[in-house]
Amino acid sequence: MKLTSLIMAVCAAGALSGNALAQAPIVIKFSHVVTSDTPKGKAAERFKELAEKATHGRVKVEVYANSTLYKDKEELEALQLGAVQMLAPSLAKFGPLGVKEFEVFDLPYIFPTKEVLYRVTEGPIGKNLFAKLESKNIIGLAYWDNGFKVMSANKPLHAVADFKGLKMRIQSSKVLDAQMRALGANPQVLAFSDVYQALQTGVVDGTENPPSNLYTQRMNEVQKYLTVSNHGYLGYAVIVNKKFWTGLPADIRTQLEGAMKESTRYANAIAQQENDAALEKVKATGKTTVYVLNDKEKAEWRKTLLPVQKAMEGRIGKDVIDAINKESAALGNK
Ligand code: LMR
Repeated sequence: MKLTSLIMAVCAAGALSGNALAQAPIVIKFSHVVTSDTPKGKAAERFKELAEKATHGRVKVEVYANSTLYKDKEELEALQLGAVQMLAPSLAKFGPLGVKEFEVFDLPYIFPTKEVLYRVTEGPIGKNLFAKLESKNIIGLAYWDNGFKVMSANKPLHAVADFKGLKMRIQSSKVLDAQMRALGANPQVLAFSDVYQALQTGVVDGTENPPSNLYTQRMNEVQKYLTVSNHGYLGYAVIVNKKFWTGLPADIRTQLEGAMKESTRYANAIAQQENDAALEKVKATGKTTVYVLNDKEKAEWRKTLLPVQKAMEGRIGKDVIDAINKESAALGNK
């Protein structure tokens, strides 16, 4: 090959590789701890689809479901270090980060309806809570819903006395610790990925979940009794590494914000139906007896658990609890 042709070939190769480098996609690693067949799992996949489409492939989203990349405890550390770019942890898991106010979402009966919840997550209260993450190198992008929790164990849980002495798995939240102690149970924090085995081996006797989490982790196979109590709420904050997010080209960030908005709408639209369907599937397996509290039992649980709100004022802040209860009253709730 003549020298001129060789030089041209090398330049062309260089240009190509230059173009190839210029086209290398921005990778968002999105780690979470539930299966893909849950409201959060489906919303994460929807975000991937919308984000890659909106950025015309300039962004690639790698979703790592079911604790395949990081478990509960490690994932927040990984985000702060930039080892992953996006998470959607339960709102019950921000205490260890030092943002205790998020545990307001764990307070028993704090949300009488989803309407109250959305007034909080889509309004100033939710925005103010996200602002507390920024000093931790984290930006909150959205709140995703997963609904109200049921209790499960290998004995019927009807009256409060039924909880006495039970080892109950909880997320890492001091409010949930106080909740279980108020019921007379012994709370134990375990990573979500460890719950099935802990129930199977008797490390813990029972736990609480939205039905979609209980069913997709097959907990119904090792829990003989489920009580539809709706005593508390479980939702998520979709968060990103602040340095990564602010370092994105402005047009890409705008496109991703649009994808997040649409996947949030989707997440919140499917949460209730996914949990209703999961509960029906638990019933259909016949392995778990599903019990719905009667009014007398509901009243006893409320009487036992409502004082947790007052007890947690010092940790969460009376102002944020009062603000949510004010929103609730404004919507006509007692
Ligand atoms: C749990 O640990 O029970 C939940 O936070 C899991 C999840 O992400 O829904």
